[in-house]
Amino acid sequence: MHVKAFGGRNSLPSAFAGIKRMFIDRNSKVMVLTGAGISAESGLKTFREPGGMWDTYDWRELATPAAFEKSPEKVWEFYMERRRQIRDAQPNEAHKALVRLEKHMNPGRFLLVSQNVDDLHERAGQKNIIKIHGSAMRDICASCGSVLDSADSYNEFPPRHACGGLLRPDVVWFGEPLNSRDLKTAMDWLLSCDYFIVIGTSGNVFPVAQFVYQTEATKIYIGLEEPENSRGFQQVKLGKAGIVLPELIEELCEV
Ligand code: APR
Repeated sequence: MHVKAFGGRNSLPSAFAGIKRMFIDRNSKVMVLTGAGISAESGLKTFREPGGMWDTYDWRELATPAAFEKSPEKVWEFYMERRRQIRDAQPNEAHKALVRLEKHMNPGRFLLVSQNVDDLHERAGQKNIIKIHGSAMRDICASCGSVLDSADSYNEFPPRHACGGLLRPDVVWFGEPLNSRDLKTAMDWLLSCDYFIVIGTSGNVFPVAQFVYQTEATKIYIGLEEPENSRGFQQVKLGKAGIVLPELIEELCEV
């Protein structure tokens, strides 16, 4: 994963106002992409907004393989605190609306790709989901690759796997590749989906920020502000996901 700022922005595409009413047929294919903004109303900080995680903390010290090598304790302290925050948070109206959308679609016609390492989509009841940046609620052994459910506390710190290797949070850090199987699934869906709905992501973390340019689907963005890649969308609706998304899904699906 890497960050790259786009060059100049084109003018903002129009919001839904004045746009022809659309309906999503149950048999069409819907791909949804979410970012930190969808969990903001659950009380979890986003990354790049003022006061956000990477505005407060230096990601170079906390979210890279080199940072973990240098100080696994420091990285673990950060992720233990994030886990506490995630466990205290609850799914909000936007998470719940996506579950209604998935239930509305015929089997095999809905995929959610989330960049979020929290588990709020899963706790809301989402089924077909790819965690493209991994999960902060799982551990992975840096030595043997075993994946484990996260713990609230560990006997030793930084924690170790039974094989003796260091455990790390099962997230994709800056400079690391995404899981190739997940990426292939996402690519296949981009090529075949009818709707690509993106929610609450600033659109400057690659390769995910590029997805909007890799699909011929109808592309809709919902978020507080124009994303960096807004020129790729036909429709950009500015507002809180917890308000705008349930309205959109009700309109598109009458659910
Ligand atoms: N509703 C909708 N959108 C919102 C809301 C809200 N209530 N609150 C904030 N947003 C929007 C912001 O305007 C911003 O555009 O969510 C976006 C969050 O952007 P980022 O903080 O950059 O988060 P994200 O795009 O998910 O980051 C991508 O960066 O560090 C990595 O791995 C991390 O997955 C993360 C990736």
